[in-house]
Amino acid sequence: MKRRHFLAGAGLALAAPALTIRSVSAQAVAAGAGFPFSVASGDPTSDAVVLWTRLARAVDDLTPVAAGPVEVEWIVASDEKMSDVVRRGIGIARPEFGHSVHVDVEGLQPDRSYWYAFRLGGEISPVGRTRTLPSALAPHSRFRFNVVSCQHWENGYFDAYDGMADDDASLVLHMGDYIYEVGRGGVRSHESKTAPATLADYRRRHALYKTDTALRRAHERMPFMVTLDNHDALTEDTSDMAKLKLRAAAYQAWYEFQPVRHAPALSNPAMQILRDRDIGNLLRLSIPDTRQFKDRESSCASDSDKNFAFGVFQKACDAASAADRSMLGAPQEAWLDERLKTSKARWNVIASTVMMTPFDMDHGGELYRYLQSWDGYPAERARILDRIEKYKVGNPIAIAGDIHSNLVSDVVRRAGDDPKTALMSEFVGTSISSLWPDQLAKPMQAALPANPHIRHYEHTRRGYLRMTVTEDRWTTDLRTIEFTDKPGGKVSTEKSFVVENGQAGVKAA
Ligand SMILES: [Fe+2]
Repeated sequence: MKRRHFLAGAGLALAAPALTIRSVSAQAVAAGAGFPFSVASGDPTSDAVVLWTRLARAVDDLTPVAAGPVEVEWIVASDEKMSDVVRRGIGIARPEFGHSVHVDVEGLQPDRSYWYAFRLGGEISPVGRTRTLPSALAPHSRFRFNVVSCQHWENGYFDAYDGMADDDASLVLHMGDYIYEVGRGGVRSHESKTAPATLADYRRRHALYKTDTALRRAHERMPFMVTLDNHDALTEDTSDMAKLKLRAAAYQAWYEFQPVRHAPALSNPAMQILRDRDIGNLLRLSIPDTRQFKDRESSCASDSDKNFAFGVFQKACDAASAADRSMLGAPQEAWLDERLKTSKARWNVIASTVMMTPFDMDHGGELYRYLQSWDGYPAERARILDRIEKYKVGNPIAIAGDIHSNLVSDVVRRAGDDPKTALMSEFVGTSISSLWPDQLAKPMQAALPANPHIRHYEHTRRGYLRMTVTEDRWTTDLRTIEFTDKPGGKVSTEKSFVVENGQAGVKAA
């Protein structure tokens, strides 16, 4: 739409600030400051959504646009032409958060599209579209969302996002590895060959990722809910002050560049990651924090062959199976218990970033597992499956990313169990661009016969998952892209799987 038209329709030029806030004068904002990172929205509820932007002069110029806070006008309309303005206000771009803007717009109608924009002086942002979730209190019969993960800038272009343009999904659920700290070489380069070591470095890394045009279009079109995996920030359980400082920097930069509701405290290596939502009585979505409360990984590293699968898969030593090992931590495990116990939802999703399905591999006659996944925390996983069984949780579904592969499975208690004994179904989505090298894929492929509960495994394709949830059926479409080594790859549905209401186990559609 034309910005002139937007200005006229929205009457922004006439708007008086609704709030009285001490702000810097117009002259104190640097010339050329605007919205080079465009706009985004996220963390929707049934009556609110977070609108995001970040003031800068250019995507590669992150010098502060002002010495102090800056007022930014925002408007929300119920139509694409922005003529029916339903909310407006002033957001504050704070210097301590890199002049990012996070506006939590409340009082919206459930299950509705809205359009929004920001204004700073004469600069108008692009118009974004967002959507609220259906009400948790009213019946709802169909919900569609997309699941993405793992977008290594150097590995490829993020054009898989463009495949969502006609999906008419209500939400993008991002399972983490939004950025990568490590360089791998590839079709394009990070802004620096070294991993971020400061807040400024992390900001530059996020700024670079935000310049991918397909990612930008997706943010302009749909609300995201974003969680974190191992490359977004240091996840090590540590008391080392330097590492904690680095994690605080990573969290802060992540917040500054994401449309999320909860700001971390400055210089604090902690942040709220956990999310939960109810979509009517159709779907209960639980997204635990799998980063901040988990026991240290690699309990078996010293026992393992470091040359096998880059050391990513490790010998399943006794320590990994200790009953007190936890990925969630006790308070969060209690939270999940309550979510499962009290749910009246038809479908119950645990989206925990890493795969829940047990997966045994053989290396030189020894049992190896991927211990960064739930296979490194089997006692806690068993307790979750116990609860699913005990509470007769309706249609439990696990969703994950992390392994840059499409993997569809029935979640049995132990690898090798009869798939008919599965207690839940799992969909692990492939990456937007990150590669899964043969050194990691070959041991998994070789282990498939010993893991008959794995219904599908494929590691060479990039893309995302499209979930369509109705009262009778869950459908997962594996949406894959032709290529990512140059822009312009087209997305199509490679395969589809369904879970029927009341019947555990995944079937090919
Ligand atoms: Fe990843």
